[in-house]
Parts: sequence; C-alpha cells; structure tokens
Amino acid sequence: MCGIVGYCGPKPASDILLEGLKRLEYRGYDSAGICVGKGEDFQIIKKKGKIKDLREAVPVNLAGTFGIGHTRWATHGEVNDVNSHPHTNDTGEVAVVHNGIIENYNTLKNKLISEGHKFQTDTDTEVIAHLIAKMYHGNLEQAVREALYLLKGTYGLAVMHKKEPGKIVGARNGSPLVLGVGDGEMFLASDVMAMMAHTKDAVYLEDGELVSMTKDSYTMFDLDARHIEKEVEKITWELEQLEKGGYRTFMEKEINEQSQSIKRAFQGRLDLDGATAHLGGLNMSAKQLLNVQRVEVVAAGTSYYAGMVGAYLLERLARIPAHAELSSEVRYKNPIVEPSTLYFVVSQSGETADTLYAMRELQRKGATVLGVCNAVGATIPRESDGGVYIHSGPEIAVASTKAFTSQISVFYLFALLIARMRHFSFEEGYGFIRELDRIPALVGQVLQRAEKVKEIALRYAHHQNFLFLGRGMLYPVALEGALKLKEISYIHAEGYSAAEIKHGPIALINEETPSVFLVPDDGLRDKVITSIKEVKARGGKVIAVAVDGDEEINDIVDEIIRVPKTIDLFYPFLMVVPLQLFAFYAAEELGRDVDQPRNLAKSVTVE
Ligand code: M6R
Repeated sequence: MCGIVGYCGPKPASDILLEGLKRLEYRGYDSAGICVGKGEDFQIIKKKGKIKDLREAVPVNLAGTFGIGHTRWATHGEVNDVNSHPHTNDTGEVAVVHNGIIENYNTLKNKLISEGHKFQTDTDTEVIAHLIAKMYHGNLEQAVREALYLLKGTYGLAVMHKKEPGKIVGARNGSPLVLGVGDGEMFLASDVMAMMAHTKDAVYLEDGELVSMTKDSYTMFDLDARHIEKEVEKITWELEQLEKGGYRTFMEKEINEQSQSIKRAFQGRLDLDGATAHLGGLNMSAKQLLNVQRVEVVAAGTSYYAGMVGAYLLERLARIPAHAELSSEVRYKNPIVEPSTLYFVVSQSGETADTLYAMRELQRKGATVLGVCNAVGATIPRESDGGVYIHSGPEIAVASTKAFTSQISVFYLFALLIARMRHFSFEEGYGFIRELDRIPALVGQVLQRAEKVKEIALRYAHHQNFLFLGRGMLYPVALEGALKLKEISYIHAEGYSAAEIKHGPIALINEETPSVFLVPDDGLRDKVITSIKEVKARGGKVIAVAVDGDEEINDIVDEIIRVPKTIDLFYPFLMVVPLQLFAFYAAEELGRDVDQPRNLAKSVTVE
C-alpha cells in the first residue's frame, strides 16, 4: 500500500526520493509524487502510474537537498495526478505525504472551507496540510501536534514547511514510520527498504510519536511535546536481498529460495540432544506452555492458510485443540478469551491492519498473543507478547510464497515442542526432527522439477476457472493454490476440501474447468481418489499433485506433478511449491505483471 520516503542531507533529494520510492514499489500503488525543497522553494511533481512515469516527469538536475516522496494506493478519490501526494494547503507553504485514513476528514474539510480554505483534491490527506497551515505560527513541530489532535484515524506522515527549510516533521499513528540515521543525512520512511541503501541505523516510531529531523540531527517527542529517547536499532537485511539476483521476477526468485529460507527458519531451533525445538522468542516458560489448553491462530490471506496448516498440525501432532480464524472476523466478533488459550498472529509484513487490530483487541481482553512475522521491527512483533521470526528474508513479490513455507516451518517447530512436553517420546521427537531436517533438500528436488509444472501450466493457462482440492493438512494448501493462481493470473480459482465438492461445487465441473487435486499418501488417499473419479465421470480434467511411486494414479488423471516421498505430515511443504510454480507460469503465459498484480498491495495497512 502507500509508501513514504523523506530525506534531509547534502545530496540531490530527488535522486534519493525516487530510488526510495522504487524500493517501495513492491507494496503496490497507483501513483507517486515528490516534493523537493531548495530553501523556501518547493517543487512538487506527481504522476498517476509507475515510478518510471514520475522519473520522466522530474527535471534532470532538479535542485534541492531535502524532500518527501510518496507512493499512493487510492482510498479517497480516483487515481489521477491531482489526487497523488504530496498535498499542500492553498498557499503551497505546507507539503504533506500521508499513509492511512483520516476518518473525520469530511467534517474537518467542511469547517475549513467555511473558514475560506480552498481544496484542490478529493483526498482525506489534503485536510492535514490545511490544518497544519492554520496552526502554524512559526513552529512546525507545534503546528503538526496541534493539527494531529484534531484528526481521527490512522496516519504515518511527513511534513515540510517553506518557512523552515531543511526540516521534515514525521508522525505515526497506526501506520509505520521509521527514521534512518546517516552521517550528515537523515531519512524517514514507512519501510526500511526505502533507506537500506544509505543507512542500517534505524529508529522505529511508535503510535503517538513524532520526529523532527534536519540533515544533522533529530528529536523525538510525543503529542504533548514531551521529549522521547529511543534506541537506534540495526537493520539486519542485506541490500542484495532486495535485488532480483538474476531472476526476471521477485516471485520466481522467492519461490526458488525456499530450500534456503526453510533452512533459516529451522536454524538454531532444532535440538537433537533433547529431541525437541527451541523457540526463545516465545517468552514463555515450560510451565506456562504446559498450561496451554488451546491454540488460536489469527491471520489473513496466505498467512491464514499457513495458520490453518499450523492448527491441523497442532491437533494432530501435539493433540492440543487448535483453530485458525481470519483476523478481519476476530476483531469484531467480541472474541471470547480464555486464560488457557494461546494466540498466534501470523503476518509476513507484521503490519496488516486486520491482523494488527485483531491482536490489539485480543490483548485488550487479556490474551497472550505471539507473533509469527518476517519483517523485523514491524508493529506486530513490537506489540505482541512474544513470538518467532520466520527469517525468510525480504519478500518483495506481492504474492506470498517463501513466507508461507517459513510460517509453517515455525508451526512444525512449535508443534514438536508441545508434543514433546506432552506425549511424544524421545524417539518420536528424534524421528520427527530427522525427517523435518530433510525438508529443505526435498523442496530443492521439487524445484528441480519445475519444467514439468511449467509445461502443464502453459497448456492450461487459458482456462477461465479452476478448482483446487485437498484434504486434511492439504486442504489449506489447496486454498493457498487457488489464491496464488487468482491473485497473479486473474484466473478464477476456488479451493475446497476434496470431500466438499459433492455438496455443490461439482456442479461447476465440465471439460473447461480443470481440477487440481492434492493426492496424499495417507489414510485419506482413497477418499481423494474417489473424489477424482467423481470429477472424471463428469468430464472434468484433473491435474494431480501426487507422491513418487503412486503409480495407480497414472490411469486416473490427465496430468501428474510428482513430489518426492516423505512422511505424510510433511506434504504441505512439498505440495505447495508446485502450486506456486503453476500460478507463476500461468500468469507469465498470460502476460501478467507477476510481481505487482493489479489492485493488490503487499502490505494491507487499511481495514
Ligand atoms: O503481511 P501479511 O502476511 O499479514 O499479509 C496477509 C495477506 O495480505 C497476504 O498473505 C496476501 O494474501 C498475499 N498477497 C497472498 O499472496
């Protein structure tokens, strides 16, 4: 979604802002703009479309060494140049970029209009510029604070005023903002990726905090002007991780990284001596874990499906009641929180509004909430009671792939830990670890078979509808396969439990609607075969993802994608990868923008 970059320093600001915005492209946006200051002269350039369109519109050698930039994902007002950020008041003295939503903007706007202010855009953000201008009496920090008191809603924002050249004031409430501390230069951004090329020293703002920066210094304070001391933290990601590394798209790169990223999720957490797992960040003693009677997993999108796999696993392996729920639903259903229930919120970005707000609601009710996140320093890991980083490295493609396999990795570790505390013997734990340890290599083998998936994907890419079907732990994997296909190829796809199709979806089956079946290697296999036969009997084409050695399947289905053999619990790792590849190749065949599919944002920071 929207992105913010700010810069004060000695270098040409336009270069730094455009480069920072380029790094934020992955978040999804529909227009972009910058405001560059040279003394009291502000140059604003904003454009509907991509960063390259903005870059073309920015004069070469644009002078100015401080400025703010923004990528907009429209919420209020159509996508056009005028509604793009930065926004100004009517005299152009104040320039603002803003992420989030101002809920009372209409009331504020009407009042400002009645006082003589003239508005140029349909955005909620413009009221912020007018309010700050109205409150300004020679002190930008104070004007911003006073304006913020009147706002209801969420914001991460950056503000400049012509009367105070070389200064940027930022503020955060519900939308992330981080300060980058350089040598004789300062950065402000909604995401560390925008500043990593210049500094690894970051100060994360919390809600209700403001920062005022110039090229040489910064101060942090709250809405009541109380000074705040904050720790400077190191950004641990490397710049090379933000590059495509020889691949044409980030999605392909990230799919192919999965052997390594899964390994990283396990690293230092598997204990062969104790035949268990260590998850230090949980912040829970063995006694507290033993008292857990139930686990609830709360998440959205792909993270929700990973949570479903986790819940299945916890019930099956650890024999603890577990359930996954959509974060957007949890927040408003007045959830019943029991002291013996442990909550996990799962979020790659750690910023998804639905998940973050659900977490806060659960915490208000006294729940212990653990985060399973990727982005270090994001809001969910900061506000949760503990948690586990998945360490998959930056995931830049909008479609989540390596985060899914790393998220489930964490649940395999947690399930092992709980199972060992309860009924699992040393031998059982040991055997589990031995097989889990093979998973990165087995995923590598699946990736080596990508050509076969490609061949099938190209043959089927022009179908309009798909069904994805699985059972047990492979049911959420089927849901994930359908989500992957629809979000990047725009082909309509539905995921179901294979058993469920006879209750309705089978009516969709005809020659034009292929079904992708995940064929397990366990007690449910025969049931899935029965469902396949029901589809075949109605003229439906079937693509099976099946295990090496399952020869019987050859005569039943139209296409087979093979995965290596493991024990039945581990197939979610091996079967999700071909589905990611299938979606990727189908989308490429259809000429889609694989990394930045239409209408989508990487991190959905509004409800
Ligand atoms: O950052 P999160 O994991 O909280 O994001 C949740 C969903 O928005 C995300 O998984 C989304 O569904 C992806 N685009 C799926 O590929």
